[in-house]
Amino acid sequence: MRLILLGPPGAGKGTQAQRLVQRHGIVQLSTGEMLRAAVKAESPVGRKAEAIMARGDLVPDDVVVAIVSDRIDQPDARRGFILDGFPRTVAQAEALESMLTEKGLRLESVIELQVDEGALLKRLASRVAEMKARGEPVRPDDNAEALKTRLDVYRTQTAPLIAFYGKKGLLRSVDGMAPIDTVTEAIDRALSPEIVARGG
Ligand code: AP5
Repeated sequence: MRLILLGPPGAGKGTQAQRLVQRHGIVQLSTGEMLRAAVKAESPVGRKAEAIMARGDLVPDDVVVAIVSDRIDQPDARRGFILDGFPRTVAQAEALESMLTEKGLRLESVIELQVDEGALLKRLASRVAEMKARGEPVRPDDNAEALKTRLDVYRTQTAPLIAFYGKKGLLRSVDGMAPIDTVTEAIDRALSPEIVARGG
């Protein structure tokens, strides 16, 4: 099973990706997580990405495309994967298409999580409060200024992917305002029985 989870910051992409991993035995490929790991490791990619991510902008397409292409080649991705946070621009979507064709793979579905902006702000504020309560470091981009940029970037650069995948007949939109379990059920319903039966 090869899926994309599409949605604005705080829409629940990471939360639902983890559930899909458990239910279907496929891997979650989160470009945000991969980039945060690179920043922590102070690798060349991490050094390039750190300030860009902190202000809420997008890391250059070529950097992210290379990371994803390498990750898809890992043995644990053979059974299938959920792309969480990638693609985020039409150029990334086109690069993904060529990359999958070269690797002899096919994208099966794009799930869009629809959430109002007001709810996103509240969710990210609660995530900050929860992380602080657990004594964990707060993400440098989970503040009002960076969040405004992240939302602007989503509207201008990522939202066009809704039409891009709609035209290809791959898009399924799900109400991401519902409780977490209800969203999971809606995603399962949105995946066609053939995709689920194929599993990984
Ligand atoms: P990334 O890590 O992808 O962050 P994001 O898209 O801003 O998304 P979040 O992780 O904040 O939210 P989410 O949708 O996963 O929601 P979550 O499940 O956590 O990217 C970070 C940065 O990396 C980017 O800004 C960019 O700089 C860079 N980057 C990454 N990918 C890139 C790419 N492809 N190209 C270029 N740059 C890239 O949920 C949020 C909160 O809400 C949680 O507390 C959760 O418990 C709660 N919640 C979830 N679902 C529900 C629900 N249904 N009801 C109530 N609460 C809920």
